[in-house]
Order: sequence, then structure tokens, then C-alpha cells
Amino acid sequence: MAEPRILFVCLGNICRSPAAEGVFLHQLAQAGLEERCVVDSAGTGGWHVGKPADRRMRAAAERRGIHLPSRARQLDLADLSGFDRILTMDDDNLRAVRSLARELGNRSDLARIEPMTSHCRRFTVSEVPDPYYGGDQGFEHVLDLLEDACAGLLESLRLRA
Ligand code: 4NP
Repeated sequence: MAEPRILFVCLGNICRSPAAEGVFLHQLAQAGLEERCVVDSAGTGGWHVGKPADRRMRAAAERRGIHLPSRARQLDLADLSGFDRILTMDDDNLRAVRSLARELGNRSDLARIEPMTSHCRRFTVSEVPDPYYGGDQGFEHVLDLLEDACAGLLESLRLRA
């Protein structure tokens, strides 16, 4: 079977979705499954296109041994059919992606779009909050949520090495 193609989406693609991408890649590698999945991230906004992940987000991830390889890019209509699953970080992202999908009509080849937090097992939350204007604790909380959600997502994919 073809590898599932997974896209993580937030607003700027410099904090939450690159962190989700890095955490998921890290968990895939730990399980020896990195060849079994295509992973990327994008932002609904285009202000930070080309930039690496936010320095504070990268530092918080590095403290957990997680590398964030992404360069920011903006979500594109083609992503809706280029990926199988789109995981959004908050309600605004979810609305924005669903609205883009509506532009493409009722096609059967579009990604399944769902909140990232729907895969959380330990936390009961509906959004991954935007840490951009807050302190260090916000970045740690984002990583706690993403480690939980990525583990749930990975398990649900039932990948085999
Ligand atoms: P992200 O965080 O959506 O998690 O990447 C943000 C980064 C930048 C901005 C907003 C959110 N911004 O307004 O520039």
C-alpha cells in the first residue's frame, strides 16, 4: 500500500505545524517507520514563507532531542489532493482549510481534514494554542500536546516496518 501523506497546518508555519512535523518524524524514526510515511507542514498565512521554525520553538524541541527541519510555506489548493490527511492546530486553521476544500467541490480525492487534538489520548483539549506572543511555557505546552497527539495519530495509522 502507498505511504500515507500527512500534512500539519497552522497559521504561520513557524511554530506549531513545524513542531508537529518534527515530533511526528522523530516518533516515526524511533519506530523505524520513517520510510512508511510522507510528512510535511504548511501555514494558512504566507508572512513567514522560506523561514526556518521560530528559534524558541526549535530550542524547546532540541531540549527534547527533536530536530525541526521545516522551512515555512503557505498552504496551496493542490495540498488538498496532494495529501491524504490534513491535521489542523486550531479552529481557525480548521475553518480555513475546510473553506479551501469547499472551493474544490465534492471531490473524492481530497484529504481528510481534522483537528490535531482529536488524536490526543492524555490531554482533553480542542486546540493547540498559538505560542507566538507568549513565554517559554507556551512552547513547552505545545510540545506536550503534540507528543500526545502524534503518538495517537501514529498508532491509528497502523504502519508496519
Ligand atoms: P504558528 O504561530 O501559526 O504556530 O506558526 C504563529 C506564527 C506567526 C504568527 C502567528 C502565529 N504571526 O502573526 O506572525
